[in-house]
Order: sequence, then C-alpha cells, then structure tokens
Amino acid sequence: MIYSKIAGTGRYLPERIMTNADLEKIVDTSDEWIRTRTGVERRHVATEDQLTSDLCVEAAKNAIEDAGITAEDIDLIVVGTTSPDLIFPNIATIIQEKLGIHGCPAFSIEAACTGFIYALTTTDKFIRAGETKCALVIGAEIITKLIDWTDRTTCVLFGDGAGAVIVKPADEPGIISTHLGADGKYKELLYYPVGVSKDLYKAGVGDSRIIMSGNEVFKVAVKTLGNVATIALEANGIDKDDLDWLIPHQANLRIIQATAKRLGLPMEKVIVTVQDHGNTSAASVPMALDVAVRDGRIKRGQLILMEAFGGGFTWGSVLMRF
Ligand code: ACO
Repeated sequence: MIYSKIAGTGRYLPERIMTNADLEKIVDTSDEWIRTRTGVERRHVATEDQLTSDLCVEAAKNAIEDAGITAEDIDLIVVGTTSPDLIFPNIATIIQEKLGIHGCPAFSIEAACTGFIYALTTTDKFIRAGETKCALVIGAEIITKLIDWTDRTTCVLFGDGAGAVIVKPADEPGIISTHLGADGKYKELLYYPVGVSKDLYKAGVGDSRIIMSGNEVFKVAVKTLGNVATIALEANGIDKDDLDWLIPHQANLRIIQATAKRLGLPMEKVIVTVQDHGNTSAASVPMALDVAVRDGRIKRGQLILMEAFGGGFTWGSVLMRF
C-alpha cells in the first residue's frame, strides 16, 4: 500500500504590511472594531507588479529546501487559488517554468478558501495510485487585488500569501484520510460577480467587488467546520483528545474559537495566524502549517487535522500524521 506524506513545508508573504491603523486612514473603521470582530491585526498586501506566481515560487523554494530535494525531482504541481496570474495558461504551468521544471503535469484547482485542501486531496490520489513520486502542492492568493478598498465590510478581512508543501510516497501514513464537500446553493452568500463568461468585458477596472453576507457566512462556516472535523475523526475512530493540532482555515478568530468550542478542543491545540495574515483564502492553511512547523510547535509524528471552508460553499479536511 502506498501512502503520501508531507516531506517539507514553506511559505511566502509579500513584504508590504498593512496594519489596522493603515486601514483607519482609508475607510470608516477602527483597530478596535477589526480586532474584536475578526482578530486581524495586520495583513500582507502584494504590490501592483507582484503576481500570485511570484509568491508561489518563493514558497515553493522554501518547501523544496525544507524537503531536501531539488526542483528537478518534482513530477506533479497542483495549485489551489482563486487569484491566478492569468485566465490561461494555468498558474501551475507558470510556476513550473519559473522553477525551471519541464514536462510534468501542472494544473490549478479553484475551490475558494478550500483550494489547498482540494489540491492536497487530489495529490494524495495521484501518489496512492503510484503515478507521482514528488509533488509540489501550493495554496496561494493575491486576493487583495479583488478587493474594493472603499468597502469596509470586506477590505479589512483579507490578505495575500502563499503556502507550499512537498508530498512524497511513504510506506505508512502520512495522510490518513481526506474528505471533500460542496454545496452550490450557498453561492449568493459569497461570490465575485465577474468572470470569463460573465461581464468580463463590461466591467471596468475596480468596479467589481466581493459580495458577502458576513453574518450568514459566519454561521454556516462555524457549523460546517465543526461537522467537517467530526466526520474526519469519526471516519478514523479517532478521539478529539488524540489530536495534537487543529489547523483550521484562518478567516476570523471568532469562527476559529467557535469551531474549537463546538469540537470541545482547547485553543492551545489550535494553530492561529489570522492576527498576522488576515484571511488569505487558499493560502491560509498551508501558511499556518509552515508557521507552526518552523516555530517548533508541530513536530514529526504528531496527529494533525487541517480543514477549510470557502465560497461555493466548498469544504474539506485532511487528517495526517506529520
Ligand atoms: N469597521 C467598522 N464597522 C463596520 C465594519 C468595519 N470594517 N464593517 C462593518 N461594520 C459595521 C456594520 O455596518 C454594522 O453597522 P450597523 O450595526 O450600524 O449596521 C456593524 O458593524 C455590525 O456589522 P455585522 O456585519 O453585523 O458585524 P459582524 O459581527 O457580523 O462581523 C464580519 C462582520 C467580521 C464580516 C463577520 O460577519 C464575519 O467574519 N463573517 C464571516 C465572513 C468571512 O470570514 N468571509 C471571508 C470569506 S469566507 C471564508 O473564508 C470562510
């Protein structure tokens, strides 16, 4: 039996940091409101000429170094993102070229904030099928370029970044289970109103914005993230107390706290980065993983549950022994 295992992690955040105080100068908001409602204190924001693939390449280099491999070893690239450089070619091929790799399959997956979990789940199938020996999996966004900076209800929430992992085959898990889900009936609660086949050429630069019913998203997010975790634990006969770490999608500290409470998990076992990163959508889980691996909290052999929830709605989990 072939399993897959994360062999290395990496992340990259744009240099430019925007604090809540910076946002106070742009919209009618306050540091106090943003902290108490969301937990966000600062976020990284890409410059105009920075591309999502630029962030991905730096995160990938860090993961490659951490895994002790070279770029030439990579035989699959899967990227979860909602903010690719171009409509086509897909961003994974652009990253492939920038890393100097040629020939291996490279594709992207769009599942909003769940993009990385979808990408890692897909990669796990490739590895288990024996088709892949060394995969680069990335979750990345420059979501701030989709933001209306005059809309205080959304502009305070988001940030940019990229998280990457190297995944290799192993004799033992590694990835123990993956669970994905989606329900398109929730589309109206969270979406971006312009796309290739919808109004792309009618839209002027900057006249579109993320449409979000914050309260409703909040409620469904808490319920779903709790259910997703329970499904993963029950499917494997694992008690919540056996978990070393929960790495939830970093949308809002209150969503994370409510999810932990629903699960009966102490916050000491939850990795939280939303204060420093904001909501980085598909990048949030792999960046949080890398933060906790590099600061020494997450150690080899520990049991980790990663989970995410995003527009669609989409959701998913990966349970793994690191
Ligand atoms: N600064 C100051 N006041 C604000 C701001 C702001 N940035 N934004 C909204 N307000 C005001 C509102 O206008 C409202 O004023 P009113 O009472 O006079 O009408 C008041 O604050 C309360 O607004 P609510 O929307 O009820 O505030 P809430 O406590 O629900 O928090 C928030 C809003 C933070 C968006 C919350 O609903 C949330 O986090 N929802 C989840 C959405 C999310 O995470 N989306 C990200 C993408 S999805 C995902 O990643 C899962």
